[in-house]
Amino acid sequence: MTDPHFERRNGELFMEQVALRQIAERFGTPCYVYSRAALTAAWHRYDRAFGARRHRIHYAVKANANLAVLDTLARLGSGFDIVSAGELARVLAVGGDPARIVFSGVGKTAAEMRAALDAGVGVFNVESPAELARLNEIAGQCGQAARVAIRVNPDVDAQTHPYISTGLTDNKFGVPMPEALTLYRRAAELAHIQVTGIACHIGSQITTLAPFIDALARVMVLVTQLAQEGIDIAHVDAGGGLGIRYQDETPPPVADYVAAVCLAIPERYEICIEPGRSICGPAGVLLTRVEYLKDTPTRRFAICDAAMTELIRPALYEAWHAVEVVQTPPASVAALEYDLVGPVCESADFLATARCLPLAPHALLSIMSAGAYGHVMASNYNARPRPPELVVDGEHIHLARPREALAALFAEEQLLPPDPR
Ligand code: LLP
Repeated sequence: MTDPHFERRNGELFMEQVALRQIAERFGTPCYVYSRAALTAAWHRYDRAFGARRHRIHYAVKANANLAVLDTLARLGSGFDIVSAGELARVLAVGGDPARIVFSGVGKTAAEMRAALDAGVGVFNVESPAELARLNEIAGQCGQAARVAIRVNPDVDAQTHPYISTGLTDNKFGVPMPEALTLYRRAAELAHIQVTGIACHIGSQITTLAPFIDALARVMVLVTQLAQEGIDIAHVDAGGGLGIRYQDETPPPVADYVAAVCLAIPERYEICIEPGRSICGPAGVLLTRVEYLKDTPTRRFAICDAAMTELIRPALYEAWHAVEVVQTPPASVAALEYDLVGPVCESADFLATARCLPLAPHALLSIMSAGAYGHVMASNYNARPRPPELVVDGEHIHLARPREALAALFAEEQLLPPDPR
């Protein structure tokens, strides 16, 4: 635990000035807890690193979309990267500035484009010729010219998990480099499109600088070609993707990442970035209580009240999250090797495997770095209500979203009409 927003005091794990045990007792488990100070510090780390360089930080809403999180960042002056009408509605709900919204994603529907144009979003990151044509048509119907950056696919290997790699030719994302120039030429001629920038995002949880530098070098070659043809762009969007330390990864410091981006992009262009995980990941935990300890001939299981429904990352990507025992148990409790699993009826339902932990009965555990891609990827599988989300702010605990009520799970479902017979 190197994050200054977490601390052990007399054997008890604290987030800022609050004992996590206290939160579990008051709000029940499982629950997600986020540190406002950690969110704020992470955002400022990016902002300060840019110094006087013209830049915009568009927080990637998909990583954690709770309104309290969005509001915290909006108050700092953050912009937002969205991928759906739902994320747009969330940003507008906290009074986020529409001009500071980037609309990303490969599958924007006509209705989503209309909603974004109505709201006045800053720029659409367009990912295909078909999308560009549709956007031109819809912007025309709305009597507008849509501001556009084309998201190019630079074909670099981000050396991350294949499911979260997006910058290879085989991926569905972006426009392949060889076709991007043609698409820019077309965009420049469309009546309801205004070309303003270029974008690239090569993947997530990237822990070295080289792939970012390679990708931006390729992007800048295209920008130079565009300038020669009189297609001038104002901003370069370097995407998100800077990784965090879950286990023993050694991602570069944010300042080094920003310095590399600034070096790769000439001064005359405004720089945009879309960090998600590195803003909210380390700022959050998932609290869970052990329900049962169960020995089998080959494994020792700790069956927790959280499951893949609350944190799907281990099941989906074999992701590793640190697990902390919230209260250090007496020395008589031996540390043994456990697989931490949930109650869901799937063998992939694990939170962590082969962890050596001193587990007293009903131990309270904190799954670390669960602030990103935790609650947003939660599901109601097995009719499990989604847990509450809390924000710690100094010594205060703010209930940002209550636990879903059981009745809410099926409140809008309708029985068939009675049989006529
Ligand atoms: N911009 C775009 C266009 C993106 O697709 C993403 C993430 C981001 C920015 C933010 O990337 P970040 O800074 O958070 O790495 N569910 C996966 C991660 C999926 C990332 C999808 N795109 C996980 O839990 O690891």
